[in-house]
Parts: sequence; structure tokens; C-alpha cells
Amino acid sequence: MDRKNRISMAVIRRLPKYHRYLKDLLERDIKRISSKELSDIIGFTASQIRQDLNNFGGFGQQGYGYNVEELYKEIGKILGLDKNYKIIIIGAGNLGQALANYTNFQKEGFHVDAMFDINPRLIGLKIRDVEIMDMDNIEEYVIKNNVDMAIICTNKDSAQDVANKLVECGIKAIWNFAPTDLKVPDDVIVENVHLVESLLTFTYLYKTSKE
Ligand code: NAI
Repeated sequence: MDRKNRISMAVIRRLPKYHRYLKDLLERDIKRISSKELSDIIGFTASQIRQDLNNFGGFGQQGYGYNVEELYKEIGKILGLDKNYKIIIIGAGNLGQALANYTNFQKEGFHVDAMFDINPRLIGLKIRDVEIMDMDNIEEYVIKNNVDMAIICTNKDSAQDVANKLVECGIKAIWNFAPTDLKVPDDVIVENVHLVESLLTFTYLYKTSKE
């Protein structure tokens, strides 16, 4: 079995958090850290941290702890952040435009190169330097520009049709913000982001904290 299949999603979902905290430590010029210290700031137990990182070959040294820069880079590599990715956004409404305006994606290697919409009033406009193009031109664009990933920011009812179109164009990775479960072939990855689910968990916690 290869590494990709062995590592649980629970571990994978914790890696971005390690990455974020390690970046913060690096910015504070902290060179090394023990799993106990990391545990105090991240909130996972020290043994959880050791177990998680052992999945990828360890990185720590007995009596020394972790080299912050090395661990940050290694986790970045594991997450695929040592590469650049070409991204397109489908649906250039409120959310699509907000994502296109978010410059931090670029710092991590995610380049939003174009947006697509069906609304003629939006086509031709630019958000920062990202042009909103006609959905009719998507196939040609994707093939010419070797697009890696697509972000769906259309309304719910269009999302499945948009996903089908993206699959037809050869896109293998979709970051889906529309509140619907997309059906795609097995070789296409879909990661859903649903802020409302987080909000409802939040309201539950708020409600129960008052009981
Ligand atoms: P919006 O109405 O401002 O934008 C949607 C855009 O999609 C419009 O410009 C529309 O012309 C375009 N569109 C519709 N059908 C299309 C198609 N077939 N091909 C290309 N473009 C198409 O909506 P908003 O506020 O930007 O929300 C977008 C989506 O994101 C909605 O589904 C909304 O429910 C969802 N949303 C999800 C959040 C999350 O946490 N996942 C948070 C906020 C919104």
C-alpha cells in the first residue's frame, strides 16, 4: 500500500494546522520546538503530534525536538505546497470575487488565473488582474492553459452542470463552495467548503454553553 492510502484523513486534516502554527513560529524566529511545547500551542497531545509526524518519517530528534524550519518545509511538501497551481473560479459573484481578491492564496502558490461566468454584465470585467471570461470559452482556456484546479462559486442549481463541464474539460480537482454534493468520476477530487456547517456547529456550542 502506498503512503497516500495509508494515512488517515484525520491526520491529513490536522496537517494544515501544524503548517499554520509552524509558520507562526518561524516568523517569531523560533528555531526548534519540542512536541510538548508544540502541544501547548496547538492543543493536540504531544503523543498525538509524535504519532502524526511519524506517519511521514518522524522529523524529530530525541532530546532536540523538531527543527521548525525543516518541519514547516516538510509539511508544506507533504501538502503539495512546493508547487504552483493554476486555478480558475467558476461563478464571479460575491464569493467568487472575494476569493479572487484574496491575495494570500498566491503566496502559497495558488494562482487564480481566470474567472468564468454566464452573466454578460460580468464578462470582460477584471477583479484585481483576473479577467472574468465567458463560460462558453472555458474548455478552450483550460486546455490551452493547463489549469490544475477549479473553484465552484455558482449558485447551487448550476453547480452539478458546472462540475460536469469541468470534468469534460479534464479538470481533476474541484474546490466546491456551492451547498450541494457533487457527483464526479472516481479520479476527480472534490473538497467541499461549507461555512454554514461551521456556523451551525458554532451556534450549537453557543447554545449549549448557556444551558
Ligand atoms: P452570487 O449570486 O453573487 O454569484 C453566483 C454567480 O454564479 C453569478 O455571477 C452567476 O451569474 C454565476 N453562475 C450561475 N450559473 C452559472 C454557470 N452555469 N456557469 C457559470 N457561472 C454561473 O452568489 P454568491 O453569494 O457569490 O454565492 C455563490 C455560491 O456560493 C452559492 O452557491 C452560495 O450558496 C455559496 N456560498 C457558499 C459558502 C460556503 O461556505 N461554502 C459561503 C457563501 C456562499
